[in-house]
Amino acid sequence: SDPFPFYGEHQAGVVTPAQDRLHFVAFDVITKNRAELVELLQEWTAAAARLTQGKEAGSFGAVGGAPEAAPDDTGEALGLPASGLTLTIGFGASLFDERFGLAGKRPAALADLPKFPGEQLIPEISGGDICVQACAHDPQVAVHAIRNLARIGFGKVSVRWSQLGFGCTSSTSRAQATPRNLMGFKDGTNNLKLEDAELLRDQLWASAQDGSAWMAGGTYMVTRKIRMAIETWDRTSLAEQEQIFGRNKGEGAPLGKQAEFDAVDFAAKGADGQPHIKADAHVRLAHPSNNSNAHLLRRGYNFVDGSDGLGRLDAGLFFIAYQRDPRKQFVPVQMKLAKNDALNEYIKHVSSGLFACPPGVRDAGDYWGRTLF
Ligand code: HEM
Repeated sequence: SDPFPFYGEHQAGVVTPAQDRLHFVAFDVITKNRAELVELLQEWTAAAARLTQGKEAGSFGAVGGAPEAAPDDTGEALGLPASGLTLTIGFGASLFDERFGLAGKRPAALADLPKFPGEQLIPEISGGDICVQACAHDPQVAVHAIRNLARIGFGKVSVRWSQLGFGCTSSTSRAQATPRNLMGFKDGTNNLKLEDAELLRDQLWASAQDGSAWMAGGTYMVTRKIRMAIETWDRTSLAEQEQIFGRNKGEGAPLGKQAEFDAVDFAAKGADGQPHIKADAHVRLAHPSNNSNAHLLRRGYNFVDGSDGLGRLDAGLFFIAYQRDPRKQFVPVQMKLAKNDALNEYIKHVSSGLFACPPGVRDAGDYWGRTLF
């Protein structure tokens, strides 16, 4: 298939139909020099424009340069196509401090997330000054892209944490079949999608009127690494699993309905007089109708990071959600889930990130974050 365009009004990798693989990285900026940071963003943009089109990171490439120089591409993607690679950059709250004179430019929507009940965040795998989300159909291509950005950033940024993911856990286009998360359920049925033009305008893309003109056409990304107790889950009955989500496992239909995309009816009751979808079911609590019409564009990935040393797989969902204003979208929804969700018995949030993703790069003369500097 053709590569996704790199240039545009919005960054790719948000409404782009979710690719199969993820390599996500969060960097700390180690240079204190603003000009060096801008120069890095320009170099990264040039490399990203090439990588996403299936080219090598630099113009000499892995083997075309002088033999006495280190190559400007690391080589492991030689011969591989673009594989649907998108690279999406975001700026964390910590970038907006006195180091780079950006304190006055921190968007109000980039307010620190509150502490949520039950979360057990590990600081070393949370936050970061800059993040890059690489998505592709081939993990080698996604890893190659992040690795080359890290290589280019040597001495200016250091990798704070990174996460691999597979089996996209959210469809973001109606043309896609809904994938499944590691609990075995279809994930992304009621997601904000590429085709929802009006909702995307109202609930995904920031506008100049939101208070930070430099973010117009951008969006805000929340990441949460959510560990699943899959061993406990796997010993839970099918009926209980289905009640926890409020959907059936095979088809993904709302309980009480037949087909995956049947509308959810929270009032409908079964023969026992109880609602089909219980009060603490995940989809009831997360549904826009119970959250002042707040929508999220979910774009998460499954992860298995080996074992936890206690005889269990270290597995779960690397949740990613895009939105226009986390204060009105992720925060209230997650607060409600953290307090009441039946799913909480089986999950634990262990890392958190919040990033302002600037608008798209218009052309070869533009660069990631230009409107900020
Ligand atoms: C829906 C799984 C965490 C927000 C769903 C669905 C599943 C699911 C299976 C139903 C299918 C669908 O409509 O996509 C999970 C799992 C989670 C998790 C396994 C953690 C490991 C979260 C978090 C949020 C969230 C942290 C946001 C704070 C939503 C929303 C919906 C949804 C907004 C759609 C509800 C609707 O409109 O019907 N989730 N989810 N989920 N989830 Fe989650």
